[in-house]
Amino acid sequence: MLKNLPQPNLQLKNNNVNEFDFKNGTLHAENIALNQIAEEFNTPCYVYSKAALMQAFNDFSAGLIGTNHLVCFAVKANPNIAILNLFAKLGAGFDIVSGGELARVLAAGGDPQKIVFSGVGKNADEMRSALNAGIFCFNVESASELNRLNQVAGEMGKIAPVSLRVNPNVDAKTHPYISTGLKNNKFGVAFEDAIAVYEQAAAMPNIAVHGVDCHIGSQITELAPFIEALDLILGLVDTLAAKNIPISHIDVGGGIGITYSDETPPEFKTYAQAILAKLTHKNVKILFEPGRALVGNAGVLLTKVEYLKHTESKNFAIVDAAMNDLMRPALYDAYHNIVAVNPRDGETNVYEIVGPVCESGDFLGHDRALNLAEGDLLAIKSAGAYGMSMASNYNTRGRAAEVMVDGDKLHLIRQREKAADLFALEHLLP
Ligand code: LLP
Repeated sequence: MLKNLPQPNLQLKNNNVNEFDFKNGTLHAENIALNQIAEEFNTPCYVYSKAALMQAFNDFSAGLIGTNHLVCFAVKANPNIAILNLFAKLGAGFDIVSGGELARVLAAGGDPQKIVFSGVGKNADEMRSALNAGIFCFNVESASELNRLNQVAGEMGKIAPVSLRVNPNVDAKTHPYISTGLKNNKFGVAFEDAIAVYEQAAAMPNIAVHGVDCHIGSQITELAPFIEALDLILGLVDTLAAKNIPISHIDVGGGIGITYSDETPPEFKTYAQAILAKLTHKNVKILFEPGRALVGNAGVLLTKVEYLKHTESKNFAIVDAAMNDLMRPALYDAYHNIVAVNPRDGETNVYEIVGPVCESGDFLGHDRALNLAEGDLLAIKSAGAYGMSMASNYNTRGRAAEVMVDGDKLHLIRQREKAADLFALEHLLP
């Protein structure tokens, strides 16, 4: 390591498999220097580590060995088919929220019998595709959706396997935009209505009640909200059993957080133990829907400093990645650690790290102490989850390339979009 540098956060342990490390003063992904990736594929570019992805999945699963369980990766966190395929090979199932995600999972070789379909607004076409594919379960979020599913399944001569997503009114203590288990959120069936809706479901000819589902939010860094929600669900499972509506699986959703800066989310094994301890007397399969925790710290967004601009009040580093590439800072004021790929000795300046998009909300980081020159490469860390998946073409910017590093091998897993790709589906008036 060079001296006198702001020390990048390299000692992440909790849910933060770190395959991004400095070797000879250069940040590497596994064995590949990030500047080599920039040379080959240009910037901005998402870089993932295969070892980090595999380790996160295996660590998550390790605490569940011997338990009847299924880990369904939440596709929305990172839907690249290379990543889905990697998880499918490790035995993962998938949590999907659209017909598009269903198509991706199938294209990536995912097993339909390991798919759960969440989301508040599934349309009839999406229901039909999922019934045709033969998915494991629909996580139904309202009585109206249940009626629609019963009707669609009836028209197809099929029986739809169902869990109700129950809204337990538990505070996940996370950003309000990613909190989903409070009664003023749009998600799920209100806890106090759940029994009545289950009774309706049980009486429907084309619905088979299989499970109970719950997802209270994302980037949760405490155990207590998960346990509070699970206790409520277990009570519900008992009440349903007494009403002759047996439940064969409980889906506890996703939401376990990662370390972006100094958060200390529960470790996977602590989380698993706490949940499994509650289930010892229940003969149910347990489902998990982690997204961020499996991919978040397995990816960085590589970007180049285009210009430095020193004004009276601020120093700006204008980089070639922007809010369209990584929306989290603009949308949630989210923090991502930003490090120089080749840190240099000497004085640092405090920079606003901003993109080229025409919005003042287009920032990637505030007040970062870095010693920068134009042309330098930066790595925006913890960008593997909800990075590329939320990217847009705002300002007619092609979405970034995505590459995956595997030891000393480098694979392009998504080409950079070209300008012509961006208007290829548009038509001039006749
Ligand atoms: N299951 C359901 C039903 C979900 O809605 C979500 C995330 C997950 C599982 C996975 O949650 P995770 O394990 O990744 O926390 N764009 C936001 C996060 C939105 C999460 C939406 N639902 C962000 O960038 O922080």
